[in-house]
Amino acid sequence: MCGIVGVVSNDNVNEKLFNGLANLEYRGYDSVGMCIANDSKFDIKKGVGKLDEVHKRVDFLKLNGTTGLGHCRWATHGGVTDNNAHPHVDCRQKISVVHNGIIENYSELKEDLIKKGHRFYSETDTEVMAHLIEEHLKENDVENAVRLALNQVDGSYALGILFADEPNKLIAARNESPLIIGIGKNENFIASDVPSILSYTNKIIYLDDKEIAVLTKDSHRIFDLNGKEKNKEIHTINWTAEAAQKSGYKHFMLKEIHEQPRAIADTLNGRVKNGNVVFEKEFGLADEYLKSIKRIVMIACGTSWHAALIGEFMFEELAKIPTEVEYASEFRYRHPLLDNDTLVIAISQSGETADTIAALKEAKKYAKTLSICNVMGSTIARVSDGVVYTRAGPEIGVASTKAFTTQLAALYLITIKLAKLRNALNEKQIKNMINSVRKIPLQLQSVLDEDDEILKCAELYHNKTNSLYLGRGVNFPIALEGALKLKEVSYVHAEGYPAAEMKHGPIALIDKNMPVLFIAPHDVYTYEKVLGNIEEVKARGGIIIAIATEGDKEIPKKAGHVIYVPKTLYTLSSILSVVPLQLLAYHIADKLGRDIDKPRNLAKSVTVE
Ligand code: AGP
Repeated sequence: MCGIVGVVSNDNVNEKLFNGLANLEYRGYDSVGMCIANDSKFDIKKGVGKLDEVHKRVDFLKLNGTTGLGHCRWATHGGVTDNNAHPHVDCRQKISVVHNGIIENYSELKEDLIKKGHRFYSETDTEVMAHLIEEHLKENDVENAVRLALNQVDGSYALGILFADEPNKLIAARNESPLIIGIGKNENFIASDVPSILSYTNKIIYLDDKEIAVLTKDSHRIFDLNGKEKNKEIHTINWTAEAAQKSGYKHFMLKEIHEQPRAIADTLNGRVKNGNVVFEKEFGLADEYLKSIKRIVMIACGTSWHAALIGEFMFEELAKIPTEVEYASEFRYRHPLLDNDTLVIAISQSGETADTIAALKEAKKYAKTLSICNVMGSTIARVSDGVVYTRAGPEIGVASTKAFTTQLAALYLITIKLAKLRNALNEKQIKNMINSVRKIPLQLQSVLDEDDEILKCAELYHNKTNSLYLGRGVNFPIALEGALKLKEVSYVHAEGYPAAEMKHGPIALIDKNMPVLFIAPHDVYTYEKVLGNIEEVKARGGIIIAIATEGDKEIPKKAGHVIYVPKTLYTLSSILSVVPLQLLAYHIADKLGRDIDKPRNLAKSVTVE
């Protein structure tokens, strides 16, 4: 999705903008641009392509000035062309705008502006903003011109705005698209996310919807759309700039897969005390309320939705609470039956996924809400009544890995808390759950040590064009997640299916060219049945790769390749089983030479609908 960075400073800002854009690259984009205000005019360089490609053509570092904006564009309105790349300017080239989001009423506004004599040169919805502000600037100062323009706009926006005649000022605004303010020393920033400016400041203000920020190098003021000034808290972020670097790994995805033992340990840290799960004050939900709930509904997208499916097993089997899982994008347009007895849990790594935010806002009208988020202060974290932060650290690779396993750890902790409060399990069972989760970081390390066998599978099968991922119970969401990982980073078609459903259709696909991944750690429920499914694939010549529990004697007799995971509890096994699938997807994509951290067409954080 589009990314924004802006700086107003004492010094030349070209490098800060460039580095900020480089840090935003992981979000996925098709064109890039920078603008610096100087001598009452703008110097703008932009074009289609990746940052380095466009930089080779235009040399962004030749720009010179103390206030500027940078933008990477992920096209929504208007094709991928140099002209449509941001920034966009007004007729007189005195106002420069970068935008993330969609101005929904842009055609009416554009028609009206054209009647008033404005000339448009791009096909974007964004350009309307520049002309609208220009129109209001005829009779207002810059702050009021922006405010009045925003009052006419419907839709979502994170905006950075520069004025050639006031080059020491940077204006920003947000509605339903992420935007933060960074407070530096003799300089201030705007950005789409924290990692993009983390090397310069960790003091952050989160803009809320319908807020405008006016920044100079040594001041920041925030207003609502009526012009009323607001006092906002400055948060100190504890992520380090190094955490957002590759630290010697070839890709962020690989680094993040290997960070999982640490990320899980951090997510558990300090939250299990004397046999109880204790969350920080942000959890926000009272024990009495948690005892009384009759239902849980979870909303999420993509990988986070897969985590929710596993959470459903945890809440139902262990805390004995009826649970449903919904795609946020579907939920937001249904008329869900929610009430005070239902807890709605939103799961999101970024905390900025547009569909999840909309679904959460809908849910909040009727029910209490809790979120599981990785990004502190993100919109979802702030909108929900309570939040459990996963402590994965910045996840830069577009394919979610450590965020997923820490979401599972967070769901598991919430389950223990609920099970204990509601007497759904006895003390011995709770103790066993706690002991088991504490072992997970070490056990994860031993799964990572299986990498040789996984690499061998990638070497043998990276040219296959399809594959099937099969599992039952908690392993079915893992099959979905394994298939999603492969699709995302390698562009190889893969499908996840419940293993028993294979006979109802997908079995027709199996031949000697079809790798079939069985997620088959030992469990008391369906293990024997899955052995039967493995036989069925073998009989049809399929290539079998199985994830099995250490010490399993049966699976090696049937499967071509076995990757072992340590024994743990059923509901926890998914944290271990997913890791070989993440590594397999990574190695296959690497063999195929894919752009692993920024796969084509994908965005890290889907901030538009
Ligand atoms: C995962 O690998 C994906 N890139 C994607 O499915 C992601 O999980 C989804 O967009 C939800 O994002 P969120 O967790 O930030 O809300």
